Order: sequence, then structure tokens, then C-alpha cells
Amino acid sequence: MAPSIGDDDMAERLVVSSLPLETRFPPFQLRQHGGFWFPEPILPDIVAVRAVFAPRPSDVFLLTFPKSGTTWLKALAFATVHRADHPPCAPDHPLRHRNPHDCVEFLEVPYALTPDADAFAALPSPRVIATHMPYSLLSEQIMAEGAGCKVMYVCRDPKDAFISTWLFARKTAVAAAAEAANDDEPRPVPTSFGMEEAFELFCDGRCPGGPQRPHVLSYWEASRRWPERVLFLRYEEMLGDPVGNMRKLAEFMGCAFSGEEEAAGVALEIVKLCSIGALKNVEANKSGAQNYVKNEAFFRKGLAGDWSNHMTSEMAALLDGVIEDALQGSGLAFPAAESM
Ligand code: A3P
Repeated sequence: MAPSIGDDDMAERLVVSSLPLETRFPPFQLRQHGGFWFPEPILPDIVAVRAVFAPRPSDVFLLTFPKSGTTWLKALAFATVHRADHPPCAPDHPLRHRNPHDCVEFLEVPYALTPDADAFAALPSPRVIATHMPYSLLSEQIMAEGAGCKVMYVCRDPKDAFISTWLFARKTAVAAAAEAANDDEPRPVPTSFGMEEAFELFCDGRCPGGPQRPHVLSYWEASRRWPERVLFLRYEEMLGDPVGNMRKLAEFMGCAFSGEEEAAGVALEIVKLCSIGALKNVEANKSGAQNYVKNEAFFRKGLAGDWSNHMTSEMAALLDGVIEDALQGSGLAFPAAESM
């Protein structure tokens, strides 16, 4: 049974407007909660997750810091779990008609969870649900010892995650500004967003989901403590060996590819179906939208190292330094710009 809302949760919901505010990172105003910065519209849902969401031991959570490969992970996990009902070669496969974000929902999507309703309760098991929530806010139920849920975390070189975040923010800001102008209480959304300002905010952790370092680090540590519950994947390694990583992902979710499937090349078919090139060509990804965010905005280059086309070497070294300091002694590292 889902836990009911206590006075503490209610109090937490009521003080959202008094949480520290950051207005410079479009498209949303950000509020700081539990040490992380969240787009204001999803804060009530983050509180509601703790209040009403009832995890099941068979749940698989797809975890990412924003702009680190969420869309890809959603596609891969969805295609893998549902391959019996939807063979990857089938012309009517859902991923040939729908955006991956329409196939796997975010836990913190606005209005999915309200103080007395959990839209996820209607989903059949095993559920695959995505979230950007930091470990510290998930740990109470989803990561609790007895919950049994599994987590697949994808991390990405912070320099590429930053560039992807900045370009996405610029793309979505104009549409968000138009939408915000129609609000009952219109708020200004900055539509020109320079890289230097974005960089400073990102390094300070004042970006959606930020700061990135503790986000990545806590899931990394959890994967070392409980490898059977937390699978830690790297975007760059997935690009380098997509089929090998697919096998890992399927095995971890408890649906490893059988010898017959291996012989038939099913893993490779899923990788092809979910490749950025294939997804970009899907009509729903060219013309559809998630609220005011056009689906095409989720598919840009999908490369490792694109930061070098945008950032100066000084910026790269500065960010490397920030990351290196934060990860020191953890056993987790990202290649420094100068070594690439
Ligand atoms: P770039 O902006 O560097 O191209 P998220 O899905 O977490 O929002 O991350 C978006 C990033 O993942 C973007 O990176 C996007 O191009 C990339 N991406 C989207 N779909 C992908 C896919 N199928 N394979 C690899 N990368 C993908």
C-alpha cells in the first residue's frame, strides 16, 4: 500500500515557493531542494514521489543526469523488455511510431503523481520508469534495502553533458518564453543564453538536476556497494560497444538474450532500432512534441567529444579540475581534455 501523506510532506509542499531560486538557467526557474536544483514545475512531483509512489521489487529505474543519454536508454530498455511482444524488426514497433519519452515515462513528470494519486500504479509489472532524481531523494523507498528495485545509471563526460544541456536550454527557451507569456502570472524567460554564463552556472551546479558531481558519484558508489541492484553504464562506452552494453543491460534486467536470440542477432537489431540515426527518421520524432519541447530537440549529434567544437581549452581544463576534485578517491574518473 502506498504511504499516506504526513504533515511533514504537506509542509514540504507548501514551502516550495520559499526555496532558494535560480532564474538564469532557461527554460524554467530552478529551486534548490535537498542540495539539488530542480525545474520549479516538477518540485511538487518530487515531493509526491516520497509521499505516494509505491515501488515494486520488479521495477527497473532508468537513472541519468539530464542530457546524458536518457532518451537512448529509454529506447534500449523499452525495446529489450518488450521484445517478445514487439520484435525489433517489426515495422509497427512502437519506437518506429512514438518518441522514447512516450514509451517510458519520467517518475517526476508533472501531474503523474499527486498527493492522492499515483498514475504508475496502473502499469503492469515489470515497470520501466525513468528519473533524473538524485540518489539521496530516491533512497528512502526505491533504494531502500528491502525494496528490491533495480537501477540502471548512465553517466556521460561532464563536458559533453554541459554542451548538450546548454544547447538544449537555448533551443527550448524560445518556446518556453512564448508559453510563459500566456501564464496566469506571466514570468520572463531569458531567451539569449550565452555559453559563458551557462558554463559558470553549470560549474556551480546551478543547472537542471545539478550539481552533476554528487549525482553521478552517489550512484557510482551505490553500484559498487550493490552491483546486483545498480548497473553503472557510461555513454561513451555504449557508443563504443553498443551490442556488448545491450547484453549487459538485458542480463541485468533479468531478460538476457537466449542462445537462439544471439544467433538471430536480436541485440544488434535493437541497437539499430534505437540508434540516433534511426530515431531521428521516425516521423513522431521529427514532428511531435513533449509539451512545448519539440521531439527533434532530444536528438542532436549523439557523439563523444563534441564539447571540443564549442568550449575553449581553458574552460575544458577548468571543468575537468572541478570534476577531478569532486571525484578524488572514488575510483571514478573522466578523461581529461588534455589527454584526448
Ligand atoms: P548531444 O546533444 O550531445 O547530441 P538526454 O536524452 O538525456 O536528454 O540526452 C540527450 C543527448 O543524447 C543528446 O546529445 C542527444 O543527441 C543524445 N542522444 C539522443 N538519442 C540518442 C541515441 N539514440 N543514441 C545516442 N545518443 C543519443
